[in-house]
Amino acid sequence: MSRIAYVNGRYLPHGAATVHIEDRGYQFSDGVYEVIAVRNGVLIDGEWHMERLQRSLSELQIRMPMAAAALNVVLRETARRNRFREGIVYLQISRGVARRDHPFPSPDTPPALVVTARRTPPMSARVIAEGVGVISQPDIRWDRCDIKSISLLPNVLVKQAARVQGAFEAWQVDQDGFVTEGASTNAWIINSEGHLITRPVENAILNGITRRRLIALARAQDMTVEERPFTLAEAKSAREAFLTSTTAFVLPVVRIDETVLGNGRPGSHTMGLRQLYMNFLAEKTLETD
Ligand SMILES: Cc1ncc(COP(=O)(O)O)c(C=O)c1O
Repeated sequence: MSRIAYVNGRYLPHGAATVHIEDRGYQFSDGVYEVIAVRNGVLIDGEWHMERLQRSLSELQIRMPMAAAALNVVLRETARRNRFREGIVYLQISRGVARRDHPFPSPDTPPALVVTARRTPPMSARVIAEGVGVISQPDIRWDRCDIKSISLLPNVLVKQAARVQGAFEAWQVDQDGFVTEGASTNAWIINSEGHLITRPVENAILNGITRRRLIALARAQDMTVEERPFTLAEAKSAREAFLTSTTAFVLPVVRIDETVLGNGRPGSHTMGLRQLYMNFLAEKTLETD
């Protein structure tokens, strides 16, 4: 089945979809993005993604390319044209096309919008059952990781380091020894009391939508969630650990660097949280069907 992309007002075959060589996203990483899970045509937590998108844009003084309602239509339509049951839509907005020069172009330069969509194969049952390993890496990113910027070079480098070392993810560690987040996921631990611990939302991490959803789901079950920084040492001695993202949902972490957590198998709390999230996905998908 041929894939379809949306580029600046047109739906095009994926292979024929192109942007201008002087798009500021291409030349300066001057843009933002979102990745939204889609199931049976439903954009999962679409409103929260739209909210985060608008915040990222406004922090960078980039205009919305169209009203949020219209953008929603484009996202759904791009997903629909790619015909899948489970997948993601990716959207990217740059400050537009202009002669290469660092300051913002004239205010009437329209922002550029690209939307792609693709099927995502379900995460392998074996990976979920066995859990994944992560490595630690120094966090060399800038001070505004709360903005979902397309400027991802440090994230690319640490994710590649993880791949080379046979790990699923890299947990980035700040100069004080505290874990910030993964290259493309939020980091969590569970202590001996069964409390969930994850870094608070500030400039050092992305306000993950899956993180936000899981906090709400866990609190609704009367679980204790502590939003506070934790060190790499605390993570290595935690009872359980896991990561969250739009594509991984809730994934158990069983190894950090050379340290095996617990008995090396995914913990029961983590598996319960994954189930909680999967139930939420199933309900969301039914509601609007
Ligand atoms: C740096 C970073 N942290 C966390 C996340 C997880 O966020 P979400 O749950 O919204 O996918 C992502 C997702 O791409 C990310 O890039």
